[in-house]
Amino acid sequence: MRLIVTTALAAGREAKEQALAFAAELGAVFVPRGRLGLEILMAAAGAEGALVVGRQRVSFLFGGREFSFHPGTAALRIKNLRSGKPDQMIQAMDLRPGDAVLDCTLGLGADAIVASFVAGPEGRVVGVEKVPVVALVVGYGLRHYSFKEDPDVEAAMRRIQVVAADHLDYLRRVPGESFDVVYFDPFFRTPVRGASQLQPLRLLGEKAPLAAEALREAVRVARRRVVVKVRRDAGEPEYRFQRVVGGRHARVAYGIIEK
Ligand SMILES: C[S@@+](CC[C@H](N)C(=O)[O-])C[C@H]1O[C@@H](n2cnc3c(N)ncnc32)[C@H](O)[C@@H]1O
Repeated sequence: MRLIVTTALAAGREAKEQALAFAAELGAVFVPRGRLGLEILMAAAGAEGALVVGRQRVSFLFGGREFSFHPGTAALRIKNLRSGKPDQMIQAMDLRPGDAVLDCTLGLGADAIVASFVAGPEGRVVGVEKVPVVALVVGYGLRHYSFKEDPDVEAAMRRIQVVAADHLDYLRRVPGESFDVVYFDPFFRTPVRGASQLQPLRLLGEKAPLAAEALREAVRVARRRVVVKVRRDAGEPEYRFQRVVGGRHARVAYGIIEK
């Protein structure tokens, strides 16, 4: 997708400098905003998408949609964890404070934030995302999004390290047994109904199924286990899990390979 990088209206000098840096990172053109509408700027540049840098947030506009960062579902899951309710992903990971987690499919970062909350300040979470603009918007959000209503969520966000890369390439570079848990949440072939908050991500994200080679590498890199979010119903690729956990009637479950 051809894209431009610009600033929000009257965003100031810092936003312009940040936009220039993002343009260089993405290999995209920086277009000064002036007072012009985004559609006009995009049409003039023949672009289908625009990364817009504001004072505190970065969003990506494409096809009449907006992709931006928000800790929404993670904040709710963390609230539930604090009130003693279990979180299926955390249970599947058997995650404990101090653990190191490699999230190979960062997306909006919700799972990574919840993992980071549980792993705590002594732990470590690295999130790998293949689509550069997704890695950039979510990485910026994790570093800068202000979430004063829940300082624990904000602190969990800040601790996540984002890597813009294909997870197979990244896994191949990582030494064996360097993360306690390696996690994958690839797109399901058919989206789960009600998962509408993922829609712009579904359009932008990499949809290729999880490669067997990536799973093999993940087993090498994990100290304790590899966890993959899967759909129970038909149509999804089969992997060799030792067990699959999750509510018997829930469509989403977690496949586990323990070492
Ligand atoms: C279903 S979403 C993950 C959602 C995420 N767990 C969350 O909580 O927001 C899948 C994400 O993984 C990314 N992805 C898919 N294949 C990848 C790969 N080979 N390497 C890195 N990221 C990949 C997609 O671009 C997409 O952003």
